[in-house]
Parts: sequence; C-alpha cells; structure tokens
Amino acid sequence: MSHRPDPTSDPAGTTGPPAPVIELSGAEKIYPGGVRALRGVDLSVLPGELVAIVGPSGSGKSTMLHLIGTLDRPSAGTVRIAGHDVGALSDRQLSALRARRIGFVFQQFHLAAGVAALDNVADGMLYGGAPRRERRERAAEALRRVGLGHRLGHRPGELSGGERQRVAVARAVAGEPSLLLADEPTGNLDTASGHAVLTILRELNASGTTVAIITHDDEVAAAAPRRVRLRDGLIVTDERTDIDAGGKTGGGAHPGGTA
Ligand SMILES: Nc1ncnc2c1ncn2[C@@H]1O[C@H](COP(=O)(O)OP(=O)(O)OP(=O)(O)O)[C@@H](O)[C@H]1O
Ligand SMILES: [Mg+2]
Repeated sequence: MSHRPDPTSDPAGTTGPPAPVIELSGAEKIYPGGVRALRGVDLSVLPGELVAIVGPSGSGKSTMLHLIGTLDRPSAGTVRIAGHDVGALSDRQLSALRARRIGFVFQQFHLAAGVAALDNVADGMLYGGAPRRERRERAAEALRRVGLGHRLGHRPGELSGGERQRVAVARAVAGEPSLLLADEPTGNLDTASGHAVLTILRELNASGTTVAIITHDDEVAAAAPRRVRLRDGLIVTDERTDIDAGGKTGGGAHPGGTA
C-alpha cells in the first residue's frame, strides 16, 4: 500500500538535447472486429510544443490521442511517453503516469454525474496529494478562468453542453499537467467561449506544458505552431510554422519566447 513506485521520474540522466515527451514509432491500433484505426504512425513531440491534430472523421485522431494518453496500448509498434515505454508498464504504473503528468479533455466530457462542478475539478487532482481545501481553491480558480465562477455548485445535469465542456477543460488544466491532451475542446462552444478556452490552453503551453489538440476548427489549427494531419490511420502531413524565421506569422503569440 505504501509502496508506490514512481514511473514518472526521469528515466535517464538528462544532459543532452531534450528528450521527446511523445514518441510513437510504427504505432498501430487494430480494434476488436478488425478496424485498423492506426496503420503505423511515427510522431515525435518535444517538451513545450503545441500540436494541432487534424483530419477527417474516422481518420484515427481520437485513437492516436488515446494511445498518447496511455489509455490504450498499441497493437503493434511502440508508444513512449516521457521516456516510458507504455507497452512495458503495468496498468498501475500507467495510471500513475497519467494521474501525475497528463491532463485530458475528452470528446465526451466524462464528468461525474451528480457531482458539483467544483468537486468534479477538485477530484481530478486527488492523485497529487494536495489537501482537499487547496484542491477546491485551485478548482475554483480554474473554473473562474473558464468563465464558470458563477456555476461552482452546479452538477453536470444542471449545466449547458458548452459549460460542461468548460468544466472538463478546467479539470484538465487545474492540476497543471506537463502534457495536456484535448479532443475537440472547442467543439461545442460559441466563438467567445472557444477563444477563452484556447487562451487558457495557450497560456498553459507558454508556461511549459506540452499540448496536443484535436480540432476540426481551421482557425484553431492555423493558430498552432505545428499541425499533424491524419488520413485513414496514417500521418499524411506534419507542418510547422517557423516562428524564429523572422516571419510575422499569425500575429504575435509568444511574448516570452521559449525557456
Ligand atoms: N472501440 C472501437 N472499436 C472498433 N472500432 C473503433 C473503435 N473506436 C474507433 N473505431 C473506429 O476506428 C476508426 C478511427 O476512429 P477515431 O475515433 O480514432 O476517429 P477520429 O479521427 O477521432 O474521428 P472523429 O473526428 O469523428 O472523432 C473509425 O473508423 C472508427 O469507427
Ligand atoms: Mg474523435
């Protein structure tokens, strides 16, 4: 019980160039029934990147995000997250890795029914070991940032779809994960709320969090410095906007530069 191995610690002494946070190599996913949702994906994402994942419905985006989030293991190939080979970790080690490092915003929000927004967010930080009062304070702060300071006591059934989505975003960012994965985080939001959510994700990224966002929104994708496009289970393009190349691309996003 008291023995809790920490699979999230740095696996190797790191003095060289930064190791990728996300490293997929020949990753495949075949679902029971035979759908080959991913057919050999190679992807390397460095700490602090913000990557948009785009592609048609059914192209494998959510499947890839589930592999990156260690919610599922690849059918073939390897997935390494923060240096850890996901296929080699036990379920328990995987949950520890997830709980400590990864924040999720799912396509379906996965909020606990019948639990107030504040506690939905605060409970997401249970694993971090902070006392309940501190968790609730941080949860309230995160909910205020997504514009829900006036709905702290509302249960999911008492919130609109967009509000539920914002609770999910607050829950994902409240614990300040080092990796944030978001599946259509602005899909159900009006323009203003969508911008508010994106601003939060960008701020999180500016403070060092690696962010991967699945989106169908061209505006969201265009604002990301890197865009990975999937089709039929394969990455077909992987483009970067080179911010350092003197181009004033997209209007000043990074006042602080990179650490
Ligand atoms: N649990 C599952 N069992 C069987 N097939 C699945 C399962 N989940 C997804 N698929 C299939 O795998 C393919 C990829 O699905 P995925 O959810 O990754 O697509 P997506 O790119 O996220 O699409 P969308 O934009 O519609 O969310 C689809 O053809 C889908 O029908
Ligand atoms: Mg999807």
